[in-house]
Formats: sequence, structure tokens, C-alpha cells
Amino acid sequence: MNKNVKVQVTHLTKKFGELLVLNDVSFDVYDGEFLCIVGPTGCGKTTFLNSLTHLYEPTSGEILFKGEKIDLRKHDIAYIFQEYSAMEWLTVKENVRFGLELKKQYKGINEKVKDALELVGLTKFADYYPRQLSASMLQRVVIARAFATQPELLLMDEPYGQLDINLRFRLEDEVVRLCKQTKTTVIFITHNIEEAVYLGDRILVLTNKPTSIKEIVTDELPHPRDIAAPEFVEMRNRITDLIKWW
Ligand SMILES: Nc1ncnc2c1ncn2[C@@H]1O[C@H](COP(=O)(O)OP(=O)(O)OP(=O)(O)O)[C@@H](O)[C@H]1O
Ligand SMILES: [Mg+2]
Repeated sequence: MNKNVKVQVTHLTKKFGELLVLNDVSFDVYDGEFLCIVGPTGCGKTTFLNSLTHLYEPTSGEILFKGEKIDLRKHDIAYIFQEYSAMEWLTVKENVRFGLELKKQYKGINEKVKDALELVGLTKFADYYPRQLSASMLQRVVIARAFATQPELLLMDEPYGQLDINLRFRLEDEVVRLCKQTKTTVIFITHNIEEAVYLGDRILVLTNKPTSIKEIVTDELPHPRDIAAPEFVEMRNRITDLIKWW
């Protein structure tokens, strides 16, 4: 793996009033890396992403993208939120198209929309409105919208929580394939340790609040990974041990 640093987090601290959430967190995300972050509920995973995208200002410390303060208008970053965020007044197809238009990616746009809908299995629902879809279908619209743009940095906050196991497995394989192919850097947040071991190049394990880094585990198991392989089970157990005291 190329060890150029893409995202640099230094001494990041975030307080909400008296509540200390992120407590002096520092780590790097490398170019083209798939970094999974696992941590207990309420430890500040979403807060971290919100600090990265400047929804919140850090109390102290900073996050840089390619050495610069992050600017979402300038930097090619896409994110998939924990709660789905499809636009109600646009059809499925138009929602995906909107993401591409926002990034001014007009070239081959119809083809890109079609491919993204195919990927998430929503081709037949292209002309439906969000209110006509189930929660998992809505989440797939948002995933298609982010994937279609092939961003340089993809932020995913529990993106597959709503999906059934078949679809989750399919999209996990697809996200790995796409990200390796396009050399996308990914920060992927999940509660699911097996999912983290299946997807990640590294797995960053957070502590409970006030939150710091418990350990960063390197995962060099070859793809496609076999969740029943002894090395896989061993790594999963090791991470489970790290977080037993949550
Ligand atoms: N805007 C806010 N104002 C005040 N407190 C907040 C705000 N956003 C988050 N918090 C608090 O910060 C802590 C971390 O919240 P956050 O949503 O980042 O956790 P999380 O790790 O994403 O949890 P989950 O796994 O449940 O998604 C929580 O205690 C939460 O109550
Ligand atoms: Mg969260």
C-alpha cells in the first residue's frame, strides 16, 4: 500500500459543553486505504465525521485532507450518513443524478446513474419517489448516489445497518472492489466487528467516552476474505477481546 497520508487527524478534541467526547485523538489515513472505525455507542464516531466535514468545529486539534483544511466545495469527498438522506421530491433516478450534477460530472451521466442503480438493485424502482420505498431501499439510494461520483474520499457511517444480510454481503464485496479499482480512500464506521475485519486494511478501535484510540489493528488478510478461515476468526476474536469492556 502507498503510504502517502490522505487524512491527518492531530490532537482532535471535541467537547459539547462539559461533555468530553473526543479526547486528543491523532491518526493518519493513508492514500487508497480502507480504514474501519469501531467503537461503542455514543463514543463520538459520528461526531468525528461531523468534525471532518465541518458540521462541528473541533474544540481543539485539526483534521487535514492532503495537507489542507478540509473544504467540501474544493475537495472530492462524499459521505453516507447513518440516517438516510434521500431527497423526497426527487425520484430514485433523480436522486442519484443529483449527486453527479452537484459534482459537475455531466459526462456519461445517464450511464453512471444506470450503473449505480444496477449495483444496488434499484433499476426497477428508478422512477419511484423515496416515500414509496422501504428503509433499506432508501439507504441503497444514498449508497448509489455516493458511489456514482467515485469520490477521492468516501465517508460511511454505519451504511449497511438497515440492510438484510444478503444485500449487505453483496454491497460489502462491491465497496471493496470499487474502492480498490478506483483507489478511493474510505473511512467506514461500523459496530459490526466481523464487517470491519472483512472490509478493512486497518481497524481503529475506540474506547468509551472520553474517547481515545485503544488500538489500530492492521488487517492484511487477502481478498476475498473468508469469514470462516482460522486467521479471520482469530483477528475477529482479538478485536472482540479489545472491546469486551465496553
Ligand atoms: N450536537 C450535539 N450536542 C450535544 N451533544 C452531542 C451532539 N452530538 C453528539 N453529542 C453527544 O456526543 C456523544 C457522541 O455522539 P455520536 O453521535 O458522535 O456517537 P456515535 O459514536 O456516533 O454513536 P452511535 O454508535 O450510537 O452512532 C454522545 O454522548 C452524544 O450525546
Ligand atoms: Mg453515530
